[in-house]
Amino acid sequence: MGCTIIVGGFFGDEGKGKIVAHIAEQDKPSIIARGGVGPNAGHTVVTGDESYGIRMVPSGFVYEPARLMIGAGVLVNPDVLLREIDEVGHRVRERIKVDKRCAIIEKKHIEQDKSDKRLREGIGTTGTGCGPANVERVMRTARQAKDVPELREFLADVPLEVNEAIDRGEFVILEGTQGFGISLFYGTYPYVTSKDTTASQIAADVGVGPTKVDDVIVVFKAYPTRVGEGPFETEMSQEESEKLGIVEYGTVTRRRRRIGYWDGKFAKYSAMINGATMAALTGLDRVDPDCRGVRDYDKLSEKVKEFVRRAEEDVGVPFRLLSTGPGIDEIVDLR
Ligand code: GTP
Ligand code: IMP
Ligand code: MG
Repeated sequence: MGCTIIVGGFFGDEGKGKIVAHIAEQDKPSIIARGGVGPNAGHTVVTGDESYGIRMVPSGFVYEPARLMIGAGVLVNPDVLLREIDEVGHRVRERIKVDKRCAIIEKKHIEQDKSDKRLREGIGTTGTGCGPANVERVMRTARQAKDVPELREFLADVPLEVNEAIDRGEFVILEGTQGFGISLFYGTYPYVTSKDTTASQIAADVGVGPTKVDDVIVVFKAYPTRVGEGPFETEMSQEESEKLGIVEYGTVTRRRRRIGYWDGKFAKYSAMINGATMAALTGLDRVDPDCRGVRDYDKLSEKVKEFVRRAEEDVGVPFRLLSTGPGIDEIVDLR
């Protein structure tokens, strides 16, 4: 079984939440642990009639037997986390643990993020305080989860629990947030987030060493998107995207997402640095609306199959998860 990392291959919002939730239901992990920057992320999970937009709780919450964890590298906003624990239901309160060393986002970080013109307008941050909180962490002045009484009942040594589960032969998912193109190290600096976002960083966030990782699934979107400022080589005009029927808004900030065409060169480079063992491709219903909800490879149209073949050729890893709609079960799973 072992350990699988799931990360974003483009600029975030590739649909990692949906892919994580599908794999959780399918492969029954004992733990789903979240890495990544913090509550700047918004994962969408659509199950039946319910749609959840979550910023701190791991997306695999829909699979109720799994324990849920937030790794030490992740920034925690206690207000956001506690509200989500209340709102999501699904027994999250009994199942979730927060590493005692997570750094805390304070009101002042959010104010700074929102009032700094360069951050807000120049880079187009989410205004969730992540950048300023990471600054304090680097300066070693940030508070940690263990200093917050409201978090006491959730505190744990996450890497200890995760590594013990892996050593017992259980299956563990490490869930990434954001995407390769906004990595502080490898993205389009300075138009990036405040930390690396690649698979190695997600492993480090949760405290899992590289020798314990079995699979890295990089999630790509047929039509990549970007929110905030910064270069986007294959970006199309708004009219073009509307003609294709693609209009998206951010889960956290409600900002309109910029839409682009498939970028094979970028995807290949991203898969290389992430050490991808396989890829997932979302939004195939945008390539051909007739494929919406298809779950059987043979029922995909030739147009979609050709798109997948080309993507596979561009990236050089097998595309084993083909998403045909937002719902957890709208997917062709070839694993
Ligand atoms: P971050 O962690 O913030 O990067 O987010 P994410 O990767 O979890 O993605 P997010 O949920 O923000 O955005 C993806 C959007 O696409 C959501 O609205 C999903 O419901 C939707 N989505 C996921 N898969 C598909 C798909 O195959 N087709 C369509 N049409 N929408 C999809
Ligand atoms: P910050 O992470 O809020 O500092 O924002 C820095 C850049 O990363 C901005 O362009 C944001 O739009 C982008 N960003 C941060 N988190 C996400 C995410 O989860 N999805 C998409 N873009 C994000
Ligand atoms: Mg998102």
